[in-house]
Amino acid sequence: MNNLFISDNTSPADQRILKAVSDANDGYALSYGNDRWTEEAEALFKKEFGEDSLYFPVLTGTGANITALASVLKPFQSVLCASTAHINVDECGAPERFTGSKIIPIETENGKLTPEMLSKYTLNPGFEHHSQPGVISVSQTTETGTAYSEIELLELSEFAKKHNMILHVDGSRIANAAAFLGVSLAEACRGADVLSFGGTKNGLILGEAVVFLNPALAQETKYHRKQFGQLYSKMRYLSAQFIPYLRDGIWHENASRANRAASLLADGLMKKNIHIHYPVNGNAVFAVVPPEIIEKLSLKFRFYVWDESASLCRFMCPYTATAQDIEELLNSF
Ligand SMILES: Cc1ncc(COP(=O)(O)O)c(C=O)c1O
Repeated sequence: MNNLFISDNTSPADQRILKAVSDANDGYALSYGNDRWTEEAEALFKKEFGEDSLYFPVLTGTGANITALASVLKPFQSVLCASTAHINVDECGAPERFTGSKIIPIETENGKLTPEMLSKYTLNPGFEHHSQPGVISVSQTTETGTAYSEIELLELSEFAKKHNMILHVDGSRIANAAAFLGVSLAEACRGADVLSFGGTKNGLILGEAVVFLNPALAQETKYHRKQFGQLYSKMRYLSAQFIPYLRDGIWHENASRANRAASLLADGLMKKNIHIHYPVNGNAVFAVVPPEIIEKLSLKFRFYVWDESASLCRFMCPYTATAQDIEELLNSF
C-alpha cells in the first residue's frame, strides 16, 4: 500500500537534519536548553523573525498550539477560529483542557477567516454572561490547503488590535505558505503576535517551536511549556535540527518541492476532468473524485476521504514526493 498521499508526516526525515542531530551527539551538554545548539537556533530564529522575537522549542504541533494559546489567554476568554482548524478538530480538546477557554468555530468557505466573519463575536464586549473573545487563531496554510496573503493577515491583525485580541498563527505548514507566497517566513505570518512554527511536516524528525513576535506576551510561557510536558530535556537534539533548516534554507527547498508536487497533481487531475475543490496554495490537493474511482484508488493508495457525501478527497504531498510518484497516482485514476 502506498502511504505517500495520506499525510505529510509519512515522509522520512531529511538526511541533512539527521546529520545535524548526529553531529550534536557530541559529549556532554547542559539540559533543558542551556546548550550551544539551542543558542545557535535561537539566533537563527531572531534573524528570521526579528531581534525581539522569542523561541520556545516544543515537541509537537498540538504542544506548540496549547503552549502559545495558554500563554495569552485567560479561562474566561475564547478563541475564534475556522471550524476546520486543527485546534478545533484534531487536538482531542487539548486547547480547551489546557487553557480552560472556549473555542468558537466559524464556518468558512475555504478555511480562511475574514474580519467580516468575526465582527458579530465582538459586539458585546464586557458582557459577563459571554466568553470574551481573546484570540483569533488562523492556520497558515489552512487545513484545506489555502494560504492567507500578507494583506489578509494584516486585516485580521488590525481587527485583533482594535478589539484587544491576540493574533495566533498555527504555522504547522508556514514554510509551504511562505514558499507559495514567495515571501519570508516572517512575512508569511505578518501581523501575528505568536506563531506555532512547524518543522515535522517539512523534514524534521520531530519538533516545532512557539515563536513570540510580541515578546511581552511570553512572561508565563516557560511554566506552561513545562506543565504541558513540552520542555524536552535533551533539547540540543531538537534545536540542532533548526540550525540547517533555517541557516541553509532547507525549509524553503523542501516546502517548494512539496508545493510543486501538489501543483503537478492538481494540473494532472484537472486534465482528467477531476474538479479541484479548494485553491492549491500549498501541498494539499482537495479533489472531487467519483466514488467508483475512490474505490479503485483505495486498493493501492492511502488517502483521506475528507467528506464522503461530497466525494471530496484530500491528497497531501510530502516534501519527498517526486514527479514519478505523482505520475503513478494520476495513472491510477
Ligand atoms: C494545521 C495543523 N496544526 C498542527 C498540527 C500538528 O499536530 P501534531 O500535534 O500531530 O504534531 C497539524 C498536523 O497535522 C496541522 O495540520
